[in-house]
Amino acid sequence: MKELTDKQKAKIDELLEKMTLEEKIGQMNQISPSIVGGFDVSFEELIEMMTDGRISKEEFEHMMEGATQDFHDDVNRAGGLGSVLVSDPKVINKLQKIAVEETRLGIPLIIGFDVIHGFRTVFPIALAEAGTFEPELFEKTGRIAAKESRASGIAWHFAPMIDISRDARWGRISEGPGEDPYLASVFAKARVRGLQNDDENPENYVAACLKHYVAYGACESGRDYNTTGMAKSMLHNIYLSPFKAAVSEGAATVMAAFNDLNGVPCTVNSYTLRNILKESYGFDGFVVSDANAIRECIVHGIAEDEKDAAIKAVSAGMDMDMGTWIYHNELKEAVESGKLDISYIDEAVHRILSIKMRLGLFEKPYVTDEQMHRYDQLPEEHLSQALEVAEKSIVLLKNDDVLPLKKTAKISLTGALADMPEEVLGSWSLSGRASDCVTIYQGLKNKGADVSYYPCCGPEDSINEAEVKAAISEGDIIVAVVGELVSMSGEASSRADITLPGRQRELLKMLVDSGKPVVAVLMNGRPLALSWEDKHIPAILECWHLGIQMGNAVANVLFGDVNPSGKLTCTFPAMTGQCPMYYNSPRTGRPGSKSKFTSRYLDAPLEPLYPFGYGLSYTSFEYLDMDIKEKDDCLNVSVVLKNTGKRDGSEVVQLYMHDVSASIVRPVKELKGFSKEYLKAGEERKVTITLPKNQMGFYDDNAVYHLEDGKFIIYIGTNSKECLEQEIIINF
Ligand code: GLC
Repeated sequence: MKELTDKQKAKIDELLEKMTLEEKIGQMNQISPSIVGGFDVSFEELIEMMTDGRISKEEFEHMMEGATQDFHDDVNRAGGLGSVLVSDPKVINKLQKIAVEETRLGIPLIIGFDVIHGFRTVFPIALAEAGTFEPELFEKTGRIAAKESRASGIAWHFAPMIDISRDARWGRISEGPGEDPYLASVFAKARVRGLQNDDENPENYVAACLKHYVAYGACESGRDYNTTGMAKSMLHNIYLSPFKAAVSEGAATVMAAFNDLNGVPCTVNSYTLRNILKESYGFDGFVVSDANAIRECIVHGIAEDEKDAAIKAVSAGMDMDMGTWIYHNELKEAVESGKLDISYIDEAVHRILSIKMRLGLFEKPYVTDEQMHRYDQLPEEHLSQALEVAEKSIVLLKNDDVLPLKKTAKISLTGALADMPEEVLGSWSLSGRASDCVTIYQGLKNKGADVSYYPCCGPEDSINEAEVKAAISEGDIIVAVVGELVSMSGEASSRADITLPGRQRELLKMLVDSGKPVVAVLMNGRPLALSWEDKHIPAILECWHLGIQMGNAVANVLFGDVNPSGKLTCTFPAMTGQCPMYYNSPRTGRPGSKSKFTSRYLDAPLEPLYPFGYGLSYTSFEYLDMDIKEKDDCLNVSVVLKNTGKRDGSEVVQLYMHDVSASIVRPVKELKGFSKEYLKAGEERKVTITLPKNQMGFYDDNAVYHLEDGKFIIYIGTNSKECLEQEIIINF
């Protein structure tokens, strides 16, 4: 997205001059279509009635047959809409035509949609993709998503989701890049570059939307939408970090989070929205609320009524209202009665018009028939990109010499998830098509494998004993695909028990008891508590929800055509009771140990099952000769990495640091750099990662950044637990 030209700036000022108060407020109103007809209550009420069982799912679906979508054309024609959440290109053109040709000023709509990890070409969920530790991939997949969705008329993605999450019970951990602020910042910047890029052709970029601002992932007890509270130092050192980074990369928009933060809902939080985002970070795009969040300020107990909520939101810096019509209904009177200064409205509208202008919407508001059908057949380039990122997202958690499989292996494939096409797509893949999805069963058949398939049991099923018996007798090796349905992670999907859902562990026990080797292939949207599995199953592949090429990617790794190189972007606890659990925690005055009076549980291990940054390979790597050279304002940390195995492979060399003594306690480790290295069998290479000294500091409780002289420990290694280390004294 290019910056505004002087001519464009003048056009915006001219428009603002001409706009009536109603037209200005119209730009601040984002709607989704209302579902109407076929029933005499509101659609929301109908959903409630189905949820609490007053009507059955079948009755609900029957009523939906008679329903239509109301896009409020009359309000649009009067200049009362600024944005619509919709994805059908024909509908988008129709809505744009009203906005551009039938309103007084012809201001185009900005069409937004949830494109979190791909539009038609659906890529791995972000929690998986971030585990490739390849920023170039984050950018490439973002750019493909931008091109495919812009061809449908969608110019705004409600992505990237960059909420730091340290609690595996929270379902939305699936949508973001995991627990680490440094990796999340790298991911956020690369994704913004991919989505917005600097192409001259508006068909190739969209506006990004950093969400959910801020600290939504810190929801108490991992329960979605729950309250959040923390010291400002933690807010700045952890949760704001990726947002600051992505704003510096030029992100066009930000979505405020549902949660209350230190007592003030993010929707009306002028500290985070105005003081930090718009003033301190210099953010010049616009802020949109999350769906219905302005109305929920009444429920939070921070607003008396809808007018109060509207005034508090606009004053705090909330530029656009998603889905409540409250700005549309309340702001005019609020301004005319003197309760709200018009300058807040003008600021919001200026921000919104600037992004619409930079998106080229004034010049090209419509999509052509050719564009609409451009991606009916996915280009080979997109498919191969989806395969590459899926392969690289797979994490080998355990392998007692079972993998890779021989090409001639006689495989019994089990698990309902192994052949459920939509289940490979992952959360928020609303625009993916089942017909594009390659299941694991299909992927094995595509490789010509000798495979027999027995569903046996899924995340919500009972066990089909006959199929289990057949699977055990047929194959020489059993591949068991187990995990979560897509509906068990993502929004409103917190789980209080993060073991394998349903009777899948029971299925695994039956398979292991057969005495035949079992490979567990995981399909999940969060870390799972896998202590039993880790103890009894000789090979475990973490395959997440990898998108449309999942089956081919898993098959390539199972047969060793691809050597797995993914690393975990989030800690896997041994037990749910350890949540929240993350690597970059303070040491405490009594670090957990065998002795009783230390920070530990009576009934759970001290350590996680698998730590942040963990992932094995079909080869092996050795780290030798760590060295630190201090040069001007950087530390050059080097190590000799050696591929000591028989296969070529990639390794993510990770650099961590610990500030041994500071004016506030510091985490035992903080990721500060990484380098992904491909080495042939037997090859060795000196790898150097540069750590700028100005990144060795921290924010205090007044949001002041400190670089404090003193002793640091620098780590370099294969994950957050296994590292070489050296002490160094730094005088900044
Ligand atoms: C949802 C989500 C948000 C999404 C928005 C629009 O409630 O919280 O991530 O972008 O509504 O669908």
